[in-house]
Amino acid sequence: MEDDPILPPTGPLRRQAAWLERYDPPLRLTEEGRVISVGDGIAWVSGLPSTAMDGVLDFADGSRGMVFDLSEGRIGTVLLHQTAALAVGTAGRSPRGTLRIAVSNDLPGRVIDPLGAPLDGVAACEPAAWYPLKAKSPPITARDFVHKPLYSGIAIIDTLIPIGKGQRQLVIGDEGLGRSSVALDAVINQRGKGVCCVYVLIGQKRSAVVNTIQTLRQYQALEFTTVVVAEASALPGLQYLAPFAGCAIAEFWMRQGRDTLVVYDDLATHAKTYRELSLLLRRPPGREAYPGDIFSVHAELLERATCLNAAAGGGSMTALPIVETLQGEIAAYIPTNLISITDGQIYLDRNLFAGGFRPAIDVARSVSRIGGQAQHPRIKEEAGRMKLDYLQFLELEVFTRFGARLEASMEAAIQRGRTLREILKQDRLSPQSIEYQMAWLVAFNEGLFADTPVENIAVCLRALMGRMEHTDLSLDSPREAWVASVTQWLRQTGLGGVHEQAT
Ligand SMILES: Nc1ncnc2c1ncn2[C@@H]1O[C@H](COP(=O)(O)OP(=O)(O)O)[C@@H](O)[C@H]1O
Ligand SMILES: [Mg+2]
Repeated sequence: MEDDPILPPTGPLRRQAAWLERYDPPLRLTEEGRVISVGDGIAWVSGLPSTAMDGVLDFADGSRGMVFDLSEGRIGTVLLHQTAALAVGTAGRSPRGTLRIAVSNDLPGRVIDPLGAPLDGVAACEPAAWYPLKAKSPPITARDFVHKPLYSGIAIIDTLIPIGKGQRQLVIGDEGLGRSSVALDAVINQRGKGVCCVYVLIGQKRSAVVNTIQTLRQYQALEFTTVVVAEASALPGLQYLAPFAGCAIAEFWMRQGRDTLVVYDDLATHAKTYRELSLLLRRPPGREAYPGDIFSVHAELLERATCLNAAAGGGSMTALPIVETLQGEIAAYIPTNLISITDGQIYLDRNLFAGGFRPAIDVARSVSRIGGQAQHPRIKEEAGRMKLDYLQFLELEVFTRFGARLEASMEAAIQRGRTLREILKQDRLSPQSIEYQMAWLVAFNEGLFADTPVENIAVCLRALMGRMEHTDLSLDSPREAWVASVTQWLRQTGLGGVHEQAT
């Protein structure tokens, strides 16, 4: 074995004396630190004076960490990979640069961890480039207004709370109300639309992870989706990095001029992980014990979602962050932060869910601040007044509960509202094409459902959907053509629809 030029060799004294004889230490320029404590997914390291925040740390045993805290005399690192051999005294070095993930056009269909390591038992793909996990968001000069629609396939969203490509739309609600289902439906609906999707699962149970992947596969959506997973049992450092990894992958495609959709499921868990790490690293806690910079962490992440202008390639990144509320409390710290960072929110309500209205999206509390500009003009024309009318109906309906007598016009408005509510009910995993949505919008606005009993609506809609497969009507077809076809189709169902006046 080669003797170390700086440390004396072990062995017989004679050998050590000989070593001393020719002692001429060379200049060694690497810095080396030592672990001074390790546990709970973090390690404190001494030495390494020139390390910077977010720097990578490679330990002698093969473990890996990221610099998370710089204090006097020691640095706090979160572990991203930990071997059993990592212990007090293990040496650590800091190579230059920050964390990067290997990206490639072979990623769709793969399940990877936030550092790019495959989790699906297949060999890692050949990297086309290395993208930094933490990157600056595109400058204003490279951005364009959100102007292209991104269809989720969910009727309430596409008609009343439309999303545009490059928009950041929060999905918010209590656990178990269908937030993940909304996001998953939106991903599945991108089939055949050329949108690259990334689904990031943060701190979820393995069963939920497996379910998500299986659903994606079953609906042929895995082939254009990359799944980034940091399970609940993964190191907190990995869970913290997961959304950044997903974002970096989407950036790779966005820079190629492609449209991308990223789901962060969910950022409440992400915030909790960040809080855990920060408390372990003894950072001062702020509101709800979250560190003061949690807002900027999420803002930095979501600012990277945008629509690039033609000069910058014209790609886009749409983000669907999910956040969990407790007892529907949207005024809690993390939900309010995210509401203020994003361009709108889709709010899921427990009472609606319990009442059988699914997806349990509360139209009154959901909003899309910029998606309206991206909506197709024809859809906008048909759905334009619908949101207001529907909200009015919901208020009116409360009156009818007290048995108040209403004017005939109000009675009609309520009837219309009930019909619309029935139309907007939609099972999960049954995306609606935008043409089909156009069909029922036209039918509804023409009053073709006015005489249809509410319990027959679902059957009528199914018949309508069946007809859509054999039509060449498009959004750009003249309205008269739509009206004529839809009237004829509904009349053929013979289910008491089609208002006299409309014929
Ligand atoms: N549109 C829907 N129609 C019927 N059931 C739904 C719908 N959306 C969600 N669900 C059901 O609600 C439950 C919770 O959905 P999930 O998406 O896992 O909620 P979350 O992510 O908010 O915890 C699931 O059992 C799912 O089948
Ligand atoms: Mg979920």
